[in-house]
Amino acid sequence: MPRASILVAFLTAAGAAQMLAPVVSAQAPSQSSEPAPLATGDAAARPWKRYPGWPTRDTASFNTLADQKLSPPAPSAPRKLEGPVTGDPAIGAELVADRTRGGSCLACHVMGQAGNADLPGNVGPDLSEIGNAGLKDEELFNFVYDARVYHAETIMPPWGTNGLFSDAEIGHIVAFLKTLTKPAMFPTEVDDPSKRPPPVETRDNLDDLVNPGLWTVEKAQQLWTTRGPVGFSCASCHDRAEDHFKTWAASMPKWEPRLDKVLGVEEFVYRHAQVATGLSWLMQSSENTAMSVYLRFLADGQEIHVDVTSPGAKQAYERGKALAAAKVGQLNFSCLDCHNPERGGLHWIRGQWLGEQRGQYDHFPTWRTSQQDIWDIRKRFQWCNVAVWANELPPDAKEYGDLELYLAVANAGLKLNVPGIRH
Ligand code: HEC
Ligand code: HEC
Ligand code: HEC
Repeated sequence: MPRASILVAFLTAAGAAQMLAPVVSAQAPSQSSEPAPLATGDAAARPWKRYPGWPTRDTASFNTLADQKLSPPAPSAPRKLEGPVTGDPAIGAELVADRTRGGSCLACHVMGQAGNADLPGNVGPDLSEIGNAGLKDEELFNFVYDARVYHAETIMPPWGTNGLFSDAEIGHIVAFLKTLTKPAMFPTEVDDPSKRPPPVETRDNLDDLVNPGLWTVEKAQQLWTTRGPVGFSCASCHDRAEDHFKTWAASMPKWEPRLDKVLGVEEFVYRHAQVATGLSWLMQSSENTAMSVYLRFLADGQEIHVDVTSPGAKQAYERGKALAAAKVGQLNFSCLDCHNPERGGLHWIRGQWLGEQRGQYDHFPTWRTSQQDIWDIRKRFQWCNVAVWANELPPDAKEYGDLELYLAVANAGLKLNVPGIRH
């Protein structure tokens, strides 16, 4: 189609699409090319429902990324106990390994023989000889009840304050800790988190015999020429995607002043496709994921470089940075608690190696062998929320946009390599 008739067709299309969804169009007349038209409104299902097969626990009374005033506050001082702690070390030994209580103590601590069954982690110190440390019962009790009374920035969950263990249970745990007086012995090197080798991903993610996630590229190529209710396909206005979108995805996510939020590729795809074609590819639909993978795949090899110079983008970045440090969920974790090397990052949390932020974004969306599914970055954020017993936000939440911008900056200069493949 010649350019003029595209424009005429486009105006008609936009008119038709307007009936389907509210549209935002250009605001800044000084811009040389017209910005992509975008639908307003929700870009993901509402009310948001958690994915089938995910934990169903509702922790609505604890902080989320959208509301950080829900969790109970830290106590201002250690609790005074009447007399020594009474408890049964045998019950304590079971409680420290109870994975239903937020992953158990072994997720972060080696605890003498207790660790041997279950690949202990090393986010916290080795407690195998804590019984020799000369800590008073009251100190041990308070450390477990809520370590924030001694160390405001602790990573350890406030087991008592947040209702994960009762006072009586903490008594059993303290009784058990007091029995730990001998260095840990590990049956093999893999059992010792200080010797366990970090995983290295060496699979060829762009070999379709290796990466099942590559179906998305083929599917997106079909979608590119699929006409929607408006009468257009992507190809109607963007002939030869390979030529036009060689770099675009490497500049995403992007502050979008017309919507007053940061858009990632997935949210852009929904909003733009909705207006331009009438197709409704909500975030987390297979069409949305396929097209989003494809647009990033087209920019593979390009260095991630997002704009944080405009005032709106700068503010979003600052908000994202604060969100990465915000404590959420009944287990009370921030992203940085697990992914910053000065905290838990580059350590083992039980059998899982905690990666650092740089290197966590360039391969998204990524095929997850353990899930047999392809996950975009928002689904990963949601999982990292649910894993700490925080209610996740819908994938189009403004907070996730801010966080994604912050993460993209931490990954600046790395080359896109999509779809990735990970455990
Ligand atoms: C997410 C990781 C994590 C989990 C899970 C965890 N801890 Fe900790 N723990 C830490 C860290 C990190 C420290 C180091 C001090 C600090 O940061 O507050 C610590 C310190 C301690 C200390 C004080 C050690 C000392 O030498 O002063 C005790 C006692 C303790 N943890 C017991 C437990 C018990 C009991 C559990 C299970 C109910 C548990 N921890 C679960 C991370 C964790
Ligand atoms: C009716 C015409 C039309 C259709 C159909 C259309 N687009 Fe666009 N698209 C535009 C316009 C206009 C722009 C903004 C100018 C430009 O970048 O070319 C744009 C821009 C884009 C951009 C770059 C965005 C940016 O911020 O610079 C991408 C990516 C894109 N479109 C993808 C798609 C996909 C995927 C489809 C199919 C679902 C599609 N488009 C369908 C008109 C259309
Ligand atoms: C309790 C620890 C924990 C917290 C808190 C946590 N994560 Fe994670 N995260 C993990 C684990 C475990 C993995 C899988 C192993 C890995 O790749 O680090 C992971 C993986 C990821 C990945 C994918 C890494 C990759 O290379 O594929 C991203 C991105 C991520 N987390 C972001 C976040 C963000 C953003 C937050 C805060 C909202 C967060 N995480 C909070 C434990 C955590």
